Formats: sequence, structure tokens, C-alpha cells
Amino acid sequence: MDRWIAPGRLNVIGEHTDYNDGFVLPIALSLGVVCAARRRADRQVRLTSAQRAGEVIEVAVDDLAAQRDRLPSWARYPLGVVHEFVRAGHPVDGVSLDLDGAVPIGAGLSSSAALCCAVTVALRDLFAAALPDRAMVELARSAENSFAGVPTGVLDQSASILCTAGHALFLDVRAFTAPDGPETDAAQQIPFDLPASGLTLLVADTGHPHDLADGGYAERRAQCESAAAALGVAALRDATGADLPRLADPLLRRRATHVISENARVLAVVELLGAGADPRAIGALLSASHRSLRDDFEVSAPALDLAVTAALGAGAHGARMVGGGFGGSVLALVDTVDTARVSAEITRRFAATGFAPPRLFPVEPAAGARKLD
Ligand code: GLA
Repeated sequence: MDRWIAPGRLNVIGEHTDYNDGFVLPIALSLGVVCAARRRADRQVRLTSAQRAGEVIEVAVDDLAAQRDRLPSWARYPLGVVHEFVRAGHPVDGVSLDLDGAVPIGAGLSSSAALCCAVTVALRDLFAAALPDRAMVELARSAENSFAGVPTGVLDQSASILCTAGHALFLDVRAFTAPDGPETDAAQQIPFDLPASGLTLLVADTGHPHDLADGGYAERRAQCESAAAALGVAALRDATGADLPRLADPLLRRRATHVISENARVLAVVELLGAGADPRAIGALLSASHRSLRDDFEVSAPALDLAVTAALGAGAHGARMVGGGFGGSVLALVDTVDTARVSAEITRRFAATGFAPPRLFPVEPAAGARKLD
């Protein structure tokens, strides 16, 4: 069998901005989901996962939609991709998919997007489908949205497909998803060479899982839509700080404050990195993003706040929760020489609070989805 890999992602900054038509700046992780795949001629999809030993799922290509509700929830992601691929007009005469994922689940590092994107690139190559990058992103996303039933934006799949090693991906979501095709410069690769500056991006997976299907995420999306409607704009991307007093509802005002300020922070980070500034300069913006997610968007959690406080107290230049929130991981920008000290301090504070030990690991900007040799 041939094999493909698609990575998880770490969003450097730009949280809860994607579904507001705004800006994001993710990197791809070296951790990914590997999909070994081959064509079949019997119109069956046969699915296994190394993380689900002993389970073999077999469904006829033509029955995918009808069988959806009977499938285990993990299988709806890869089978949703097959379903969307066929629906997009690419005939499939059958396929075997053997998955093996190394992205921690529920850690805010997009294990599900990695899964969907690995299957997407595998199908594209196996069935020689003409699928440009944006079409792959859209296909993987609709598998998650429609088939798995998780209302994500476009951040995770874009990162998994488009990121390149050594760079952060600056995505203008509105320009990338423009109806007539992506605009030039919608997706830019921003050099992000932290080792050259003696810096490390340290991830602390708190082990407090987040679940995008459990309501808080959809609720935030709805609140953003209400705020945009109240302001008479297509999306909060179009609002500015001067509009905020027009939002009478204090809750909607806080949600909009986060989105407007977060978009501005993404642009500020991109400007600093693009100008070749010392990456330490982005630290304050990362920490401001966390405060905004905690206080205005209210998607943080005690374990995330503790990891951020501990990292900053031990000398990190900036730290913030990543991903959808309510649990998951924190990133901290640290001098490489301080990595062990910052890690030890986070672990110590977790123990003192009675939390299970966090999982700490450094990450570097890695390559996006691709075929393995
Ligand atoms: C999740 C979603 C993304 C994005 C982030 C928050 O990861 O899948 O689309 O909205 O939350 O930035």
C-alpha cells in the first residue's frame, strides 16, 4: 500500500477569527496522521485504525450516507471524506484505508483535520483527481462539517494542506474562500525560523480535552453572527473598534472585541515577522491573545490559564491557549535554554493544583500533507 501523511497544526495566533472571515497564522506540526491506502474493485470502503485495534469497518461506497448514523463517530471523519469526494464528482470503485494517527486527540492540535486531510490527499492521488489545494481544504472541511457533524472553520484543514516547513501560514480567510477562487496573496508563507533566534515553541497539552461537538464552539459562532448582524456587516472581519459602542448587548460586545482585536494582533505579528524583527517581539501579542480569549471570548479553562501563568512566571516571552478552547493545549514562546525550566514550572504548578501532569513538547513548523516515499 502507498502511504500519505497529513499533519496536525498549532495556531500561532488568530483564534476564532476564521469563521469571521478574518486572519490566522498556523504552523503544521511534525505529528500527523498516516493513511495507507489502495484502490479496490468491489465498491467497498474498508477502514481500520491503529488506534482502534480489532475494529474493521466495511461499507459500500453507495451506502455511505445511508449508513452514517450507524458508524462509530471516529469513522465518520475518514468515511465522510470518501462520501464528499464521490459527491464532488470523483468516481470511487472501492478503497481500503488503514489509518495511524500520532496527533493527540482533544489537545487542540487538529487531530481530526489531520485525519480528514490524510484521506483527502490519498484519494486525490489514488483516483488521479484534479483537486487544487483549496478544493482539498473544502472537501476535508465539509467531511467534518456535514458528515462528522462538527462545525469547524477553515483554519485546521488549510494548515494541514498548505503549510510548509520553516514557515507560518498567513491566511486571509475571506480572500482564500472568495467565490471566484482564492485571491493572490490569500495564503502567504511567512518565514518562521525560531532556532536561528535561540527560541522554542513549547506546547503544554493540559490533558483536559476539548470537544468541538459539545456546543460551546457552535454557540460562539452564533454569537459572532449575531454581533455582525447587529452591526450591519457581512462578518466581524468588517467591524472596527469604533463600532463596538453600537453593540448594546455587553456579551456580544465582548465577543466582537475579541475578534476585532485578534485580527489586529495577527496582522501585527505578521508585520513584525515579515520585517525580520526578533521573534521575541511577538510574545506580548501572544499573551494579549490569551487574555482576550479568556476574558472577552470566554473559551479558556482553569488548566489553560494555569499553564499560561506558569510559563510567563518562568520567563516565557508570551503564552496562550490554542485552538477552539475549553481545554486542550497552550503554547509558550521560550528561550531554548529555558525550555526545561519553563516545563518544570508548569508541571510543578499542575501538581500543586491537583491536575494530572501536562504533556510538554517542543514543536517546529513542519511540512503540510503529502505522499510518503
Ligand atoms: C477549531 C476550529 C477552527 C477554528 C479554531 C479556533 O480548531 O476547527 O476552525 O475556529 O477552533 O480558532
